[in-house]
Amino acid sequence: MKNSTKPIKILGIESSCDETAAAVLEFTDKVEILSNIISSQVKIHAKFGGVVPEVAARMHLEQILPVIDHALKQAKLKKSDIDAIAVTGGPGLMPALLTGVETAKTLASAWNKPLIRVNHIEGHVYSSLLDEKLLDIKKLFPALALVVSGGHTDLILMSDHGKYKWIGGTRDDAVGEAFDKVAKMLGLGYPGGPIVSKFADKFFGEKNIELPRPMIDKPGFEMSFSGIKTSVLYKLEKMGKLKDKDIIEMCHEFQEAVTDVLALKTLNAAEKLKVKSILIGGGVSANKALRTKIQNLSQHQLPNVEIKIPEIQFTGDNAVMITLPAYFHFKNNDFIDPTKFRPDPNWELV
Ligand code: KG4
Ligand code: ZN
Repeated sequence: MKNSTKPIKILGIESSCDETAAAVLEFTDKVEILSNIISSQVKIHAKFGGVVPEVAARMHLEQILPVIDHALKQAKLKKSDIDAIAVTGGPGLMPALLTGVETAKTLASAWNKPLIRVNHIEGHVYSSLLDEKLLDIKKLFPALALVVSGGHTDLILMSDHGKYKWIGGTRDDAVGEAFDKVAKMLGLGYPGGPIVSKFADKFFGEKNIELPRPMIDKPGFEMSFSGIKTSVLYKLEKMGKLKDKDIIEMCHEFQEAVTDVLALKTLNAAEKLKVKSILIGGGVSANKALRTKIQNLSQHQLPNVEIKIPEIQFTGDNAVMITLPAYFHFKNNDFIDPTKFRPDPNWELV
């Protein structure tokens, strides 16, 4: 039978950090990704050991129009086929956000399309829901979202589309940031998460290094990762010249420590809040140890809670994750006037 409601097509744009991305999604009763283009600057920033905002801004400016053009071509659509334009309005680096936002504002005005402002963290929250039927997403609420990225480590209670409450998270470093700093201490390069995780996976045999699991036994859902990182630093100072096996063991123990804290706090919060599902998102959700730990723990502790984990390609920054929540804003006529829209580098979701 033919679907009687008209499909909605949204062009989404993301430029909050070091990826310039655009995607077109078609919404019927489900989501279809018509295109997904990402131009990554990671290799350029790697030379500096981290993201340099001015370099990011210049790269975004160079890439944004070709990336959008590519996304429309891959989707085989013309501007007249698009129902709305969505863009990340924050949080992120101001010079990076500005490129995406100003481009989206210009296109929305020139093409006469409604404009939707999406919070980057909201994008990560939705990144595990791309395979769901749109009406079925509601069945997952109340949901607990764990967002773990380079800038955030948050536990967020989601009672409905657009309804968020902050439950807990880090009081100091974000977990991705801690991965990146530990990789730097070990001389492994940037971004640190994937490299530390690769070394960690090579570990076998006897364990000689033990790192703390800060706040793991404390009630509540606050976490701390800077203490684990400092502990790595002290241990490295004592160890002197490192052999490959020391690096492998340090990476493994660090990954174990942070994923123990994240998995336990997440499961305890889910139990206390009696949620129906746990939604995981953000760059660190690519981490195999974290994914496995949360799945295994939940099977024992909360077998009826559904665990949603994004496909690896949607864990890092992309525009698909911005375009999915934009659909629910579209349905609510939640549009923003281009003349009054400025990006907010510190925009809090909750
Ligand atoms: O979400 P994301 O791409 O960008 C931000 O919004 O911050 O997250 C980037 C972070 C980086 O800190 C990176 O090291 C980390 O995600 N990351 C990982 C893994 N892949 C990326 N951390 C641990 N294990 C991974 N496999
Ligand atoms: Zn992100």
